[in-house]
Amino acid sequence: MGICRGKHGKLRECRGGISYGPNQEGSKGGENLLSATENWGQVLQSYKKMSVVRQIKADEWGLLRSVCLAALSEAPYAFTETVEGARQLPDAEWQRRARSGAEGKEAFCVLGFEEALPIGIAVGLTGTSDRKVAYLISMWVAPSHRGTDLASSLVDPVMAWARGIGVYFLLAGITRGNVRAVAFYRKLGFEPYEGPIPNHSAISCCQVVLGKRLRT
Ligand SMILES: CC(C)(COP(=O)(O)OP(=O)(O)OC[C@H]1O[C@@H](n2cnc3c(N)ncnc32)[C@H](O)[C@@H]1OP(=O)(O)O)[C@@H](O)C(=O)NCCC(=O)NCCS
Repeated sequence: MGICRGKHGKLRECRGGISYGPNQEGSKGGENLLSATENWGQVLQSYKKMSVVRQIKADEWGLLRSVCLAALSEAPYAFTETVEGARQLPDAEWQRRARSGAEGKEAFCVLGFEEALPIGIAVGLTGTSDRKVAYLISMWVAPSHRGTDLASSLVDPVMAWARGIGVYFLLAGITRGNVRAVAFYRKLGFEPYEGPIPNHSAISCCQVVLGKRLRT
């Protein structure tokens, strides 16, 4: 059983975990990218023709590297990591990040695709000392797909993952002046975080910290 986006963008359940929506009935395109699963963490969402959102696979470190470099080049103002720094990272570090994002223990990495092309990413990261808090990092959608529901389709599985591992607050750190990101998170119900801001590298260099309560 999976969750799919239907005709009017509403989430609906679908058997087998794969749905291409009403326009793509019978389409086989992209099936090799997708794996049917009953695990919510690997649930697929189709948000419009041929665009899908799914969890990274452990061996997809090259894909992860490409999408992160694309994000850092296109929107350097939004991230504390630089594209130069990321280019210098050894393959082993990308392999570690991909494995971790696929494993779902310390991290959960979601990728968005248009056909085989990666066009978005969102990553959840557990807190190191406080396991009741997790971080939403590496949020990026290609400019061609902004203003669609792709960005929220990337965040939904991260929130489900965080909730599933017992997290109470999902925190997002935003750099100064990134008003579009702030507006996006506020739309999803993130609010200025009133708890003590944890000392974590995911948010330590960010001027704005928004939090979304996942449990009461
Ligand atoms: C942040 C990001 C993932 C959001 O995805 P998106 O598709 O752009 O988000 P949406 O369009 O759904 O939501 C953005 C909202 O900001 C609004 N907005 C756009 N520009 C704005 C501005 N200058 N000031 C205020 N609001 C603005 C949009 O109108 C939209 O609100 P609406 O849906 O009510 O009209 C995407 O913009 C992105 O990848 N940006 C570059 C990387 C980045 O900033 N990452 C976040 C790191 S914290």
